[in-house]
This record gives sequence, structure tokens and C-alpha cells, in this order.
Amino acid sequence: MNIAGIVLAAGKGTRMKSELPKVLHSVLGKKLIHYATDVISDFEHKFVVVGHEADLVSNELAEDFTPILQSIQNGTGHAVATVLEDESFNRFNHEYVVVIPGDVPLINKDSLHQLIKEVKNKNASLGFFSSVSNNPFGYGRVVRDGESISIVEEKDCNDEQRKINEINSGIYCFNADFLQSNINQLSNTNAQSEIYLTDLIGIANNQKLDMVIVQVEEHSIQGINSMSQLNEVEDNLQKKLIQQFMDNGVYFQDPATTYIDESVNISSGSKIFANTHLKGTTTIGENCVIGPNAQINNSTIGNNTTVFNSVVDESTVQSNGSIGPFAHLRPGSELSDNVKVGAFAETKNSKIGQGSKVPHLAYVGDAELGENVNFSAGAITVNYDGSNKHQTKIEDGAFIGSDVMLVAPVTIGKDAMIGAGSVITKDVPEKALGIERNHQKNIEGYMDRKKKK
Ligand code: UD1
Ligand code: CA
Repeated sequence: MNIAGIVLAAGKGTRMKSELPKVLHSVLGKKLIHYATDVISDFEHKFVVVGHEADLVSNELAEDFTPILQSIQNGTGHAVATVLEDESFNRFNHEYVVVIPGDVPLINKDSLHQLIKEVKNKNASLGFFSSVSNNPFGYGRVVRDGESISIVEEKDCNDEQRKINEINSGIYCFNADFLQSNINQLSNTNAQSEIYLTDLIGIANNQKLDMVIVQVEEHSIQGINSMSQLNEVEDNLQKKLIQQFMDNGVYFQDPATTYIDESVNISSGSKIFANTHLKGTTTIGENCVIGPNAQINNSTIGNNTTVFNSVVDESTVQSNGSIGPFAHLRPGSELSDNVKVGAFAETKNSKIGQGSKVPHLAYVGDAELGENVNFSAGAITVNYDGSNKHQTKIEDGAFIGSDVMLVAPVTIGKDAMIGAGSVITKDVPEKALGIERNHQKNIEGYMDRKKKK
């Protein structure tokens, strides 16, 4: 079959009351436009109607999607007509044209393919999804009267029609010849003075042509016109996603306060506690304990790792890690197996070798720690001299005492020890004690003399 897919994405999304074009708002970390383009990705030719902030929207598109500019947004019918007139569309002969709105992210791909099949089998002029809704407000209504079928928009409905609860999805499969020969019959004599694509249903019906109407579950055709609908859809999708993880053996203490992007992966046996946010390309291994209060962005967490009350950003933790409470792994932290980064410790752009510990109150930045390094409380890498960043290297088995400043660039040799409170500016050789500290003076009887004054 030769199918063209068209996403309608030129509208401003006025009801969103937001500067951002509607299709660039995200649901579970994925932009609406990408939900739509994913649905039509299998078709031979793919078009996206852009208009409001056309460049911003076009920039989001993969190469095999052709943006078509609709300079004035005269309605959904006008949007499709604009594509049909375009040379990049006309170059090809299509049998079917699938049109989907850019603001309906939950469209089921399998059902869409089913719809196309039915249109083909019945040699119908068109097919579309409808749904029976408890809250049809805002949608076009499917008006059936004896033999006649048409779609009437909310703003054009009379009181009787407004009570109809069968709604139009805005998702259509047209026979290409039918679409080509009837698109110019659409007019704008309606409440919004717009050219409605929906009028093609009445037109097909008047010509006594067959059409296919498939009723689907309401949530799969839920449109996003406002922030509260965005929240509703996101909420639904979040519940579904968490359910899928639960079906695969992931424990959730409190799904209501757990926020997981659709691109995240969690392996079975892991436990996700309350108020946890997993974002972007994050992957959680098996048998991890994440949260409560964890925020993990674009990071990979290996098996048997705990992340408790902590933030992990663009970092990697291998297995048996222990992160937190109150740790901050900033971008480029790469932790090997059995690493601990504990309370009030921060790492950035650093490699930390197997079995090493940064247990508390420390900063490790632009550093490479070997295996079994102990980086004690209050120790920090002084990586920034005010204009440049420098590297610190700590070899296997080294012990960095408390409150040590490692002024980079500097290297601490294998099994070396750094005395507490030292400001280390020179390399320390293997197995040496590096210490930089004044001798302690005890002044006898000082407090008695002080009292007498
Ligand atoms: C539309 C349908 C309605 C259906 C609903 C389903 C029409 C006339 N109405 O209403 O029957 O129940 O979707 O969600 O089709 N767009 C353009 N160019 C335009 C106008 C719109 O590209 O000139 C795009 C919008 O960016 C949006 C999509 O088309 O992505 C739908 O437009 P919208 O204004 O949201 O239509 P609805 O009022 O929701
Ligand atoms: Ca809409």
C-alpha cells in the first residue's frame, strides 16, 4: 500500500495560554509532535503541516518528515488542502492519506493500521475513529440521523446536538482519490469561519459513499487543548507506564508521587519509593532501591544499587553502588562497582574506581580515583583556579584524610596517605604520607589566665 501520513501541527494552541507552540509541550518527557510523528513513521511519505512558530516545529522533525507551511491557519481542512497542493506531495501517487492531529498523543498504532485495512477492504471513501465520551465538550460530535452522518463542531452544535456523546477523534484514513476530488468543496460557513476537514464526512455521506467508523476507547483519542488536558493525558499515560513496570516485577511504593518519563527503563526486582523522578534516558538495573526522594536524569544505574534522597544527573553508577542520602552526582560522574557516595558529597566529571568511598561532605570534580580509595569527610579537589579547570589523579588504595584540599593538577600515588587538614599542591609518591600542616602548640594554663583578666 502506498500511504501518505499527514500530521496537523500549524495551530498556535491558543487555549494552552502558553508562548510555546502546542505540539512542543511534552508528555512524560516526550514532545507531542514526536508522539504524532511516531504514529505515522511506517508510512511511505510523511508530512507535517507547520505554521505557528514553523521553524521551531520543523527543527524537531526527522529528515524523512517534510514540513509544509500553512501560513494562515484557516482550519484543519485548509491545512490538508495546503499539503495536497504542495509539489512534494503531488510528486507521488498515494492510495490512502492518513491525517492525524498533532495534539492527540495516545493514538494506538495498531488500531490505526486496522482502520486503514478496513477502509481498503470495504473500498470506502474514508474511515475515522469515534468514541463515546462522558465529557464530549470541545469535540466535534458524530451526528447520526437515519441514513445521514455528519460531524458538527462544538461551536456549531444546537442544544440537541450538544448532548450527543459520540465524539470525533480527528484521526482519519482517506481514500486518496476521494480526498483529492472533494477537498475543494469545503467552505468556511460556520461559527469559526474556518475550513473544517470534518465536513468531508457529510460530503461522503451525501454522495452515498461507504465510510468506516470505528469506536475506540476514549482515552486513546484524548486531545490536548489546554494545560489541564495536558495534565490529564500525562496522568493517564503515567499510570499506564507504571502499571507496565509493575507487570514486569518492579515495586512502586507510591505511584501517585512517582514521575517517570516514557523513555526510562527499569529492570525487575527494583523498588521505587515515594517522590522519585526518573527522567530522560535513565536506566535502572535489577534489584535497585531508588528513593524516597530521588531525582535521576539521563543516567544509568547498575544492579543492586541504592539511590536515597539524592540527585543523579547524566552519570553512570555500576552495580552495588550506594548513593546518598543527600548526594549530588553531577554530569560526567562515572562510578564503578561497589562505590559509595554518601551524605552531602558532590561529584562531577570524575571516574571513581571499584570499591572507592566518598562517604560524606566532600567534593570530587575533574578527578580520577582508582580502586579502594578513601576520600574522607571535608576533603575536596580544588579543581578550579578561577579561570581553568584542572585534573586530580588519585591512584589505587590511597587514603585522603579529612579536610584535605587537593589543589589540581596533582597526583596522589598508589597506597599513599594524606594527613588531615593538608593543602596538597605537589604530587605525592606511592606509599608516602603527604602532610602539610603547622606544628600544634599547646599553651599551658591559658584559660585560667584568661578568666582573671
Ligand atoms: C478537531 C476537530 C474535531 C475533533 C477534535 C479532536 C475539526 C474542525 N475539528 O477540533 O471534530 O473532535 O479535533 O481532537 O477538524 N491545525 C492546523 N491548521 C489549522 C488548524 C488546526 O494545522 O488551520 C492543527 C492544530 O495545530 C491541531 C490540529 O490541527 O494540532 C487540530 O486543531 P484544533 O484546533 O485543536 O482542533 P479541535 O478544535 O480540537
Ligand atoms: Ca485539538
